[in-house]
Amino acid sequence: MVPMQDDVPVANRTMELSDCRDKWSFSETYDCWCLKDILYTEKADVPAFQRLSVFVPRAYMHPDGTPTEESRKVPIVFENNSAGYMQMPHTWLGGPRCYAEPYLKDGLIYVTCGCRGRESRNAEGKPVGKAPVSLVDLKTAIRFLRHNRAALPGNFDRIISVGWSAGGAMSTLLGVTGDNSRYNSYLEAAGAYMDESDAVFASQIYCPIIDLEHADMAYEWCFGADKTCEDSHAGRAETMTPFKEALSRELASRYVTYVNSLCLKHPVTGEALTLHADGRSGAFYDYLMACISHAATEYLTRLDAGSLPENGSAEDYVKGCCTYKVPAPAPGPAHQAGPGGVPSSEMKPAMAERQGTDKRSWLAWDGKKAAVTDLDAYVLHHRRRMKPCTSFDKLENDSAENQLFGSPQHDFMHFNAEIGRVVKTLQDAFPAEAEKYADAFDVSGDAELAERIYLTNPMDFIAADEQSRQARYYRIRVGACDADTSLSIAMTLAVRLQNAGFPVDYALVWDQPHCEADYPGQVLSWIHAICAEA
Ligand code: DHB
Repeated sequence: MVPMQDDVPVANRTMELSDCRDKWSFSETYDCWCLKDILYTEKADVPAFQRLSVFVPRAYMHPDGTPTEESRKVPIVFENNSAGYMQMPHTWLGGPRCYAEPYLKDGLIYVTCGCRGRESRNAEGKPVGKAPVSLVDLKTAIRFLRHNRAALPGNFDRIISVGWSAGGAMSTLLGVTGDNSRYNSYLEAAGAYMDESDAVFASQIYCPIIDLEHADMAYEWCFGADKTCEDSHAGRAETMTPFKEALSRELASRYVTYVNSLCLKHPVTGEALTLHADGRSGAFYDYLMACISHAATEYLTRLDAGSLPENGSAEDYVKGCCTYKVPAPAPGPAHQAGPGGVPSSEMKPAMAERQGTDKRSWLAWDGKKAAVTDLDAYVLHHRRRMKPCTSFDKLENDSAENQLFGSPQHDFMHFNAEIGRVVKTLQDAFPAEAEKYADAFDVSGDAELAERIYLTNPMDFIAADEQSRQARYYRIRVGACDADTSLSIAMTLAVRLQNAGFPVDYALVWDQPHCEADYPGQVLSWIHAICAEA
């Protein structure tokens, strides 16, 4: 029997969905069958968040709640709603952050899944959502669905994982860590079926917040030219102190060393993607600028073709005549501010002043191709820094990620010893800051934390000695105006996957913020293409 709470609707009394045939309802608005509010584990600590719903186009269910034969061929989109690394519910049709409609209209089966997160506590008040628990919950849900494959429509060899931001991180991890036994003790604790697989066929990844141990270095490398940030509790742009400027410079410089240690190769030419010591030259830098330029080309071409909602020609855009405005992000806890909250990507009034009045001299357009060659000009004149230095493992130990890696003893914890080492190198010039911060970052003795960090970073599982049943296909999309993490983070993921032999469809999407950045219909075309190929 599944645990019940009065205020949390749960449709299933047992873990067998064959007992739930009478629970299917039909939505006339979405023309689909709905099996809502399914608890996916009997060991749910926080039942409100450990639930999922299944939506199925009309043709694939009989009215008696059994799947049609034809449904056995239909891919299943498994969208996780993880955001801000917080506990998140599954979504509902027409509700916030629900992306079901285009998938359903296209004839795909759609599952929306919730999970525990960094602030989750059980009935006794004990923390139960620290990393890697969100991922483990999603794996548990996939195993539960497979356990019930006879009662459900869909092709369980064609599960396509989707998510954005922290959910993009989850989608990446579902792709690269399928059935990896390093998660077994967590899966057992979560109540997962240990004899079922959690592997997925493909991963659609939107703006992933990943590689958290290197994200601060990457951020300073990308946005270092901007000495102000919009992530200020006062709601004003905040200017870096001399200490933070020095810290930013040193982190950016160490990112060069990190990138070069990855031995990445250009996915087409095979050329080594390295950075020169200045951080602003080398094939890695050129490749990122080529990806940004490609996004601009795609956008300006569509603008001239009249296929975008915006008015004006490409030429108008390049001259700065049509004004760019950061669209409001989708609502949700990812955009709540406050200690441990995640700063909003929404443009605050004070930030608009930081946009500058440049006439887009940093953007060249010859009528066919766009070129952006100077990352610092792009940052200073188009997409400015959002977060402070440091922003993932924060100096004040109060970021979303600090809470993610917390423990029963400390709700927030540091996880990047490198920042402490860098602060130490600055102690002659900044003794007070060194005294305050350096030692706090020394987490090197914590083996349990090290394992949890490892299990949260998809980069650990690509081209590694890991035994995982990995997704075959990956599609990665990131808004070119996303400043929640460095633009290089997703590019590095894409290249690493490509270098490991996986087909990857990666692109930046011009002027899109931190969101499910995409052009309409493209993700559907990709799903059909990979399913036809496999
Ligand atoms: C999310 C955004 C962030 O900036 C971050 O650091 C972590 C997660 C999110 O929207 O999920």
